[in-house]
Amino acid sequence: MTPYNVRWGIMATGGIADAFVRDLLKDPNLRDASDVSHIIVAVASSSSSTRAEKFISDTGISTTCAAYGSYKELVADANVDVVYVATPHSHHFQNVMLALEAGKNVLCEKAFTVNAAQAKMLCETAQKKKLFLMEAVWTRYFPLSVQIRDLIRNGAIGEVLRVISDNSFGDPVEDKWGTEHRMVNKDLAGGCLLDLGIYSLTWVFQTLYHTLPQDQRKPPSAISAHMALYHLTGADEATTILLSFPTSTPSNLPHPGQSQAVAMTHLRVSTDPDESNSARPAIRIQGTKGEIQIDGPAFRPERYRIIPKKGEGDFKEVECPFPAGGRGMFWEADEVARCLRDGKLESETLPWEESIVIMEVMDEVRRQGGLTYPEKIESTVYPTEI
Ligand SMILES: NC(=O)c1ccc[n+]([C@@H]2O[C@H](COP(=O)([O-])OP(=O)(O)OC[C@H]3O[C@@H](n4cnc5c(N)ncnc54)[C@H](OP(=O)(O)O)[C@@H]3O)[C@@H](O)[C@H]2O)c1
Repeated sequence: MTPYNVRWGIMATGGIADAFVRDLLKDPNLRDASDVSHIIVAVASSSSSTRAEKFISDTGISTTCAAYGSYKELVADANVDVVYVATPHSHHFQNVMLALEAGKNVLCEKAFTVNAAQAKMLCETAQKKKLFLMEAVWTRYFPLSVQIRDLIRNGAIGEVLRVISDNSFGDPVEDKWGTEHRMVNKDLAGGCLLDLGIYSLTWVFQTLYHTLPQDQRKPPSAISAHMALYHLTGADEATTILLSFPTSTPSNLPHPGQSQAVAMTHLRVSTDPDESNSARPAIRIQGTKGEIQIDGPAFRPERYRIIPKKGEGDFKEVECPFPAGGRGMFWEADEVARCLRDGKLESETLPWEESIVIMEVMDEVRRQGGLTYPEKIESTVYPTEI
């Protein structure tokens, strides 16, 4: 069978664009994905075509790839099937709109947008134009995540009633991030909630929400959040969120099934201080018949344990290595290829509705924590110069 081939256009030349491209260039057969293939046909930098050319040569993309010095040229390239948007989250709304308006399918980095209103508008535009759109939450497409969702759905730990999830870096914030870096710069939608907390929420949602049939999923019935704001910029440097969901999973029981979650993120204390996993786990999924623990980092876990309640089965530890020395971003790219091949506009593993609900949670967390961003990056007016 000839693999279904997707022609990618890469928008931006920063750190994650580099990692994504290196994964795209790996042979799909090395991860048992012989039904799809990927080719990078164009790269664009907002600053210059020279910058795009350098990116092409540094990452080892074929020299037949086009190099553009503007995103407008990229989205006008007839050879591009799908645009990967890898700009700071402040720019996602404007950049994705640019691609959709030009008739391009889009894979957009997390956090999807700055707020839920922007996310809704992107999804409405994709729907109207019959284009594929997906938030690039790569972790959801790991075999490890698929296995854990299946375990929960199959009742391996009974009714899941509580999830504790952390994604925290222990950084010397002033020295490492200063005031201008996108991690802390409010003009670039900085702060740990949108950058790191999205993964803590991803684990909460993929275990307590996504494991129910789509028509039974209900948004959190209560959200409480505390934020600590970085003294130099006002972006959040620590955020803790308590959530309640109206029912448990996998049986959708209202009584005694309400489930609760704690989602945490922090820039100054770490989930894994000695970087050798002594502090494990990063995520605990607790059910009536036992617990699943996942060692961090929450965005790229490699190992989990099933710990059944005493007398209910055997302890098991499962390793999930990354094939071909890859980072693991190729699985989300394969999902995009399969969705395009099958004529889908959205991915079942992260439907538009779920991305929007998570953005709504982050809006509420920011409201409670007092974190606002400049009006122009919260705007739903397209085009807006930012
Ligand atoms: N999935 C993951 O694991 C992961 C990891 C890290 C980051 N991310 C996400 O990916 C996105 C980019 O993060 P990154 O770490 O790659 O950032 P980065 O290294 O700072 O790169 C961002 C790139 O965006 C472009 N850009 C366009 N306008 C910009 C502006 N006003 N300021 C700064 N850069 C601008 C620049 O490339 P050109 O000007 O050359 O186009 C820049 O190199 C963010 O949304 C982040 O949350 C995801």
